[in-house]
Amino acid sequence: MENKILIEEILKLKEEKNAIILAHNYQPKEIQEVADFLGDSLELCIKASEIEDKDIVVFCGVDFMAETAYILNPNKKILIPDVEAECPMAHMLNAEQIKEAKKQYPKAPVVLYVNSLAEAKAESDILCTSGNALKIVESLDSDTILFGPDTNLGRYVEKQTDKKIIPIPGDGHCYVHKKYEVKDIDNAKKTHPNADVIVHPECDIEVQNAADYVLSTGGMLNHIKNSEKDEFIIGTEIDFMTRVENETSGKKLYPLLSDAICETMKLHTLKNLKNALQNEEHIVKVPEDIREKSFNAVNKMIQASK
Ligand code: 13P
Ligand code: SF4
Repeated sequence: MENKILIEEILKLKEEKNAIILAHNYQPKEIQEVADFLGDSLELCIKASEIEDKDIVVFCGVDFMAETAYILNPNKKILIPDVEAECPMAHMLNAEQIKEAKKQYPKAPVVLYVNSLAEAKAESDILCTSGNALKIVESLDSDTILFGPDTNLGRYVEKQTDKKIIPIPGDGHCYVHKKYEVKDIDNAKKTHPNADVIVHPECDIEVQNAADYVLSTGGMLNHIKNSEKDEFIIGTEIDFMTRVENETSGKKLYPLLSDAICETMKLHTLKNLKNALQNEEHIVKVPEDIREKSFNAVNKMIQASK
């Protein structure tokens, strides 16, 4: 009942304030239900680049996602319901570390995963997401690429390209996807021998190698929708299952681990989403010089992905 009232208030405020709610696939069920648009990181970037008729964007995701929406829309109010919703991986690489790496490899372009700080994006040549990393790396006219902060996504790309991938830093990772081990896949396959095993490229390379498919969350959803198979073991954050369950019927989904939870993604609730709209808080911005520099890298990625 309380949720029903909160949802009504959110929908009313959204109308009054001419706002749109964007949410990542890892958001809790109740946020997924109230969002105007749900997506993976690439889909959210593209959507954010296309918003013309709204004054406010409420971003239910982690900090770098809301910052990217601001980088693309400096004239709109970008709000995040809980300011502590940070991605720890993004905070593993700062601008100084990139400058140091560039000194060592002056000719190598810097490809940054969108899960990065705005100050780091400003030092990069082009961004990528897990959905387009290989395409972006292949589009560059250089044999050596500086790539960060996710070493596992870097290895995923390296496996499929002749280019040399230099990770920056050497140990950037996602603590959620690090939880998966090869033995989890072996066990799940024993229990569900007919299921496809799909994991995210943020998983360790051994886990990627043991899976049937390695895909972004958007790629996973498309695969499941279009596959003739009807059983899937899913190796990514647990609430992605909510999205798939809502959009597919007759498919059996099994989590590879049930405790793969991105804690900061869960900080957004109906209550603080309502407060965000009501009080127009918490405003997400980045300094203008950083925004301008990082816009080029974000925009190049979007153009290369279309
Ligand atoms: P995608 O949704 O782009 O697959 O990325 C997952 C992720 O961890 C976002 O932080
Ligand atoms: Fe960051 Fe991992 Fe959470 Fe994605 S799942 S937002 S990479 S901590």
